[in-house]
Amino acid sequence: MTNQKVKPAEGKLGIMVVGLGAVTSTFMTGVLMARKGLAKPVGSMVEYDKIRVGKGDTKQYLKYREVVPIANLSDIVFGAWDVYPADAYHSALYAEVLKEKDIEPVKDELEKIVPMKAAFDKNFAKRLDGDNVMVGKSRWEMVEQLRNDIRNFKQQNGCDRIVVAWAASTEIYVPVYDPVHGTLAALEAAMKADDCEHVAPSMCYAYAALSEGAPFIMGAPNTTVDIPAMWELAEKTKMPIAGKDFKTGQTLVKSGFAPIIGTRCLGLSGWFSTNILGNRDGLVLDEPANFRTKEVSKLSTLESILVPEKQPDLYSDYYHKVRINYYPPRNDNKEGWDNIDIFGWMGYPMQIKINFLCRDSILAAPLLLDLCLLSDLAARAGRYGIQRFLSFYLKSPMHDYTQGEVPVNHLFQQYVMLKNALREMGGYEADEEID
Ligand SMILES: NC(=O)c1ccc[n+]([C@@H]2O[C@H](COP(=O)([O-])OP(=O)(O)OC[C@H]3O[C@@H](n4cnc5c(N)ncnc54)[C@H](O)[C@@H]3O)[C@@H](O)[C@H]2O)c1
Repeated sequence: MTNQKVKPAEGKLGIMVVGLGAVTSTFMTGVLMARKGLAKPVGSMVEYDKIRVGKGDTKQYLKYREVVPIANLSDIVFGAWDVYPADAYHSALYAEVLKEKDIEPVKDELEKIVPMKAAFDKNFAKRLDGDNVMVGKSRWEMVEQLRNDIRNFKQQNGCDRIVVAWAASTEIYVPVYDPVHGTLAALEAAMKADDCEHVAPSMCYAYAALSEGAPFIMGAPNTTVDIPAMWELAEKTKMPIAGKDFKTGQTLVKSGFAPIIGTRCLGLSGWFSTNILGNRDGLVLDEPANFRTKEVSKLSTLESILVPEKQPDLYSDYYHKVRINYYPPRNDNKEGWDNIDIFGWMGYPMQIKINFLCRDSILAAPLLLDLCLLSDLAARAGRYGIQRFLSFYLKSPMHDYTQGEVPVNHLFQQYVMLKNALREMGGYEADEEID
């Protein structure tokens, strides 16, 4: 069954990524290799997952593409911005995530992806010092340049639609400041006044994307689109926004494991998560102001799954700590440890240890693909504003905190939200309940 309300995924889809680092180069290489049949897009739910539609006699299990029209990998064109001038081929080599044998077959295509000049401000990521940046531009001029970049890219590559995704370094923490972030008019005024404290460069990308009719995805923990001004813009331009922070390793485990403790009604006295990683992301996060952004995002997961107010006997007083340590020898191969102190019958303590030896960008690449394809779908389905159905992919899902909305962090509830949205867009009944 296809829903007439969703526009078909015809023509080329331009995926323009902010940041051409480890995640992005791994993502692009994988997509290009997959479309040549030289690699499998493992981890992409769009490519692999099947969901039930219909009930009883009409029950079927279908891939997402059979439920809703989703762009084909062969229709994707890549663009990027980065502070460093390396093209996607050299960036992939530099990142050392993939072996050369997995990069060389698509070398020619990767070399053509040359980053445009970044809208960058060193105060937001002190550890970076590349020179492929816009010089002497105010925040508003950055917006104008980025809008031009998007328009030119779209036209030069014959794209029908564009999606813009941030997979660039984590910026320093920008707390919500109502006089600037509260309304679209205030944000625009601040951009025009070149307010470099409250307007992060990432906000310029988001503003430019939404104004050019492109959905925007925030893959880092930046608060960029977590502000009422951006929701207003998304509403005005009828564009979807999704964020924030790809839910790849430790937080994926946390949001899938915490429900075991909660469902079984065991108590929690502490959860300590620590990591070592040595890629450029780790280097940036070694700076306390940048780590703060990540910490806020990572900490939010547990509190909405194991809720103290709902079960005071079990969760009233647990200690939750998250650490990231920069350790160059491991490069992109992050190692995470979780120590979970739980208690059971009559309060007797027990411990659970999880040691995840993961590959950061290998986990993030399929998330980026799915987020881009599903945001494009959402736009064609006429959905705009915060896309809660994409919470599954994100560490700190967007929610309207001005209305007291609590985000859904429980992995399996998020999966229900994803499936129901696909069913709905596919013209089926959204028939699964979240308790
Ligand atoms: N890999 C994961 O598991 C994972 C999970 C969640 C979030 N993330 C986030 O994804 C982002 C990318 O991670 P990565 O490992 O690819 O990092 P990376 O350091 O390899 O790449 C980031 C790139 O962004 C560029 N950049 C920084 N500021 C920019 C700007 N204003 N405009 C354009 N380019 C800019 C940098 O020059 C760098 O090349 C990080 O913010 C990271 O926290 C990654």
